[in-house]
Amino acid sequence: MNNVLLTGGTGYIGSHTCLILLKQGFKVIVLDSCISSSSKSLEGVKKVFGKDWDSFSDKLQFIKGDINNFGLLKQLFQENILLGEPIDGVIHFAGLKSVKDSIIKPIEYWESNVMGTINLIKVMNLFSCYKIIFSSSATIYGINKGEKIKETSDISPVNPYGSTKATVERLLQDTYLSDKSKWSIMKLRYFNPIGAHASGLIGESPLQSPNNIFPLLMDVAAGRKKELKIFGNDWDTFDGTCIRDYVHVMDLAEAHVKSFEYLFSTEPACISINIGTGKGTSVLELINVFKKVNLVDIKFSFTSRRKGDLSCVVADNSKAKEVLGWNPTRNLSDMCRDGWKWKKSNPYGYK
Ligand SMILES: NC(=O)c1ccc[n+]([C@@H]2O[C@H](COP(=O)([O-])OP(=O)(O)OC[C@H]3O[C@@H](n4cnc5c(N)ncnc54)[C@H](O)[C@@H]3O)[C@@H](O)[C@H]2O)c1
Repeated sequence: MNNVLLTGGTGYIGSHTCLILLKQGFKVIVLDSCISSSSKSLEGVKKVFGKDWDSFSDKLQFIKGDINNFGLLKQLFQENILLGEPIDGVIHFAGLKSVKDSIIKPIEYWESNVMGTINLIKVMNLFSCYKIIFSSSATIYGINKGEKIKETSDISPVNPYGSTKATVERLLQDTYLSDKSKWSIMKLRYFNPIGAHASGLIGESPLQSPNNIFPLLMDVAAGRKKELKIFGNDWDTFDGTCIRDYVHVMDLAEAHVKSFEYLFSTEPACISINIGTGKGTSVLELINVFKKVNLVDIKFSFTSRRKGDLSCVVADNSKAKEVLGWNPTRNLSDMCRDGWKWKKSNPYGYK
């Protein structure tokens, strides 16, 4: 197995995964509309290789296009077959990811996340490509009582973004059930990816103003925002702020390689796996670690709770460890240090 299609591969998680796949010897085709990213992330990937890039340059191909473009997807699979290098598997990152925007523009979210996936699956089926890793999310889970979330916990999303992810999971399950001897499907439920590659050459660069805490916190550290607004200090947590499970983006990227190793060495299956560290961190703890590691100040103030937020979202990651042999190796200090290294050298991202 060596020819992989990454939809959404110029995005935050996609670009870090692209780097690791290339290093592992995969040939990578990136398809991205760049609706919320820049293809300059792939220039960053090349820079990480430095002078060794020459021996990798024929292993990376970028195509600008939308997963809803059926003709383009067909052409892409067809061309690779004609070249004698059929696409062996897909990592499906492409999609829109803002909880806030999904409430304002649900149709766009359903179109991109759900219809786009239907299109992709149709074309994969047409060209007998049956291995797919899907970027699912912890947002599919419903309200929990503060205990660690297992893959068997209730699926009950509280916003349209989460609904699109839960729907795609269901669609993939039905696809698998349609012929259990064919499809190998891994649904990775990411918790809160943050940080960047340790080189500081690639990182998160949202085109729209960010809604996630880490890029907002870094904007404050970089002086681009006056203060961080913390949504609520009256949650039922030890310090009153929300608790999340932050995972280093490089550990997350490595989970995709492990997933491919699994899919290509086992019988067809359809599996859901949580990707988090299993450690909960409150907003105030995150700010304190960031300040301590990077010796910067973060001004913040409290505001009212945000619609759709949950008090505590932490993964039970025992399945990832058992099934994939995946163990996150980077801690919160690494996440804060690497994220800040990227932000300091690229205050405007790839712009
Ligand atoms: N970052 C997170 O906190 C997080 C958490 C859980 C799940 N996810 C999921 O992981 C995936 C990757 O997330 P990310 O953080 O790298 O986001 P991102 O926005 O950086 O990357 C998504 C990429 O998909 C592309 N894209 C969007 N719609 C497209 C379409 N119709 N056709 C082609 N390309 C399209 C965007 O241009 C972008 O490059 C997404 O599906 C997201 O929902 C992310």
